[in-house]
Amino acid sequence: MNEKIIELRNLHKSYEIGKNKQLEVLKNITLEVKQGEVVGIVGVSGSGKSTLLHIMGSLDHPTAGQVIYKNEDLYQYNDEVLSNIRNSNFGFVFQFHYLINELTALENIVLPAMILKNSPKNYEKGRTLLKEVGLYDRIDHYPNELSGGELQRIAIARALVNAPNIVFADEPTGELDNENSEKVFEMFLDIVKKHGTTVIFVTHNKEFAEKMDITYRLHYGKLEGI
Ligand SMILES: Nc1ncnc2c1ncn2[C@@H]1O[C@H](COP(=O)(O)OP(=O)(O)OP(=O)(O)O)[C@@H](O)[C@H]1O
Ligand SMILES: [Mg+2]
Repeated sequence: MNEKIIELRNLHKSYEIGKNKQLEVLKNITLEVKQGEVVGIVGVSGSGKSTLLHIMGSLDHPTAGQVIYKNEDLYQYNDEVLSNIRNSNFGFVFQFHYLINELTALENIVLPAMILKNSPKNYEKGRTLLKEVGLYDRIDHYPNELSGGELQRIAIARALVNAPNIVFADEPTGELDNENSEKVFEMFLDIVKKHGTTVIFVTHNKEFAEKMDITYRLHYGKLEGI
C-alpha cells in the first residue's frame, strides 16, 4: 500500500474583498493523497481550484487548517524554508508556460535545477527530459521558435527536472486545441506514471478526469468525490 504523501486538514480559505467583507472560497476541506496517485480536481470556473492548488503547493497561505506534507505542517515554516521545500519537492505546470524568452528550451528546463545546485549534471537531466517529451530536436529553440503544444511540453519537462515528489498542474492544456491537448496530456500521464510522481491535476476536461486515479469536484467550497 502506498504511503500518504500530502494531506489537507480542515482547510479554509477566504479572500478579503473590501471592508469587512470576506469571500469564502474553501470550506473545511479534508483530503489525503498517496504517493504516486494522480488526482484530478474539477469544478466550475471560480469554484476555487487554483486557490486549492496554490495552497497545497505552498504558494499561498490558508486562512485556517493545515497542509501536511510528509507528516509536517508546511505553513509552520518561514518563507525561506518553505521555498527550499518547494524547490526540491514540488513541480508546477500552469495554463500559461512562463518560460523565459531569453533562454533556450534546454536552458529553461535546467533552470530550476541550477537554482538548487549549479552542476553540469543538470544538463544531462535536461537532455533526458527533452527526449522524454519528444523535443530533443528542438533543444536550442527559444520559446518564440516553439508551438503552443511544444511550449507546454518544455514547461512539463522543467517541472520534472528536480525529480519532484508532487507535480501540481493547473489546466496545463487549457490553451491548446483538442488534438494537441490530448497529446500533451497523454504524454504527461505516461511520464509521471513512469516516474511514480504524485500529481494534482486541475482540469475542465471530463475525458482527462476519467483517466486520473481519483477525481474530486470542488463545489461550493467543498471537495466531493466523483
Ligand atoms: N487574490 C484574490 N482576492 C480576492 N478574490 C480572489 C483572489 N483570487 C481568487 N479570488 C476569487 O476566488 C474565487 C476562486 O478563484 P480561483 O482562481 O481559485 O477559481 P478557479 O476554480 O481556479 O477558476 P478557473 O476555472 O476560472 O480558473 C473566484 O471567485 C475568484 O474571483
Ligand atoms: Mg483556475
